[in-house]
Amino acid sequence: MATKAEVLDFIRIYGDKMAEHRQELTDFDQAIGDGDHGINMNRGFKAVSEKLPTLGDKNIDDILKAVGMTLVSTVGGASGPLYGTAFMKAGTVLKGKEELSDQDVISAFEEGVGGIKFRGKAVQGEKTILDSMIPAIDAIKKSISEGNSMTVALEAGEKAAWEGVEYTKTIIATKGRASYLGERSIGHQDPGATSMAYLFQAAKEAAKKSGK
Ligand SMILES: Nc1ncnc2c1ncn2[C@@H]1O[C@H](COP(=O)(O)OP(=O)(O)OP(=O)(O)O)[C@@H](O)[C@H]1O
Ligand SMILES: [Mg+2]
Repeated sequence: MATKAEVLDFIRIYGDKMAEHRQELTDFDQAIGDGDHGINMNRGFKAVSEKLPTLGDKNIDDILKAVGMTLVSTVGGASGPLYGTAFMKAGTVLKGKEELSDQDVISAFEEGVGGIKFRGKAVQGEKTILDSMIPAIDAIKKSISEGNSMTVALEAGEKAAWEGVEYTKTIIATKGRASYLGERSIGHQDPGATSMAYLFQAAKEAAKKSGK
């Protein structure tokens, strides 16, 4: 079970990570894009963290929708609408929930990744957010199906996400600005895949803190 407090904690932890890794994400984007990914993510989650205190009495679905809408409205560039859609979509499968089962968490991740695929018209292997997100969700599902707790599953998910980030170094970008570089994008780590791996790290840390 994930409580509303844990969901809020996850969002807070992720926002802190986006502040902490702002420069690193921007440096990755400098190499293959326009050098604003860390700035974008930090701007969005700073706005989210300002909104969080007003969301305490809302259900989890409304909290995630508010996060998504804040990201869409405060972040220019590709990542705002992509992350924003993911949070909004995740909210839609959690209608009225104050607590989440493991299956709810999996459904939320699946709906979120579906939103990113739809919005970005991308598939796995194009050097995007999806290259860490899809393997992470697969690993979480596998771990839960083997009878593990959500904390253990999220550990496996984060590991798979970082493996996905490593994989982005080996492939050509075919979406977004990085695609203009063609083969020259090889050797570089995708910024969006990296920020997504931090999301699974934040989820794992929130779950671990709850001691389950
Ligand atoms: N169509 C897409 N589908 C999924 N992820 C994408 C797509 N296009 C870009 N991305 C992700 O967005 C990241 C860049 O986000 P950023 O915040 O820098 O926005 P941006 O500068 O507008 O992006 P871009 O120049 O790639 O369009 C990339 O590293 C990639 O992971
Ligand atoms: Mg950019």
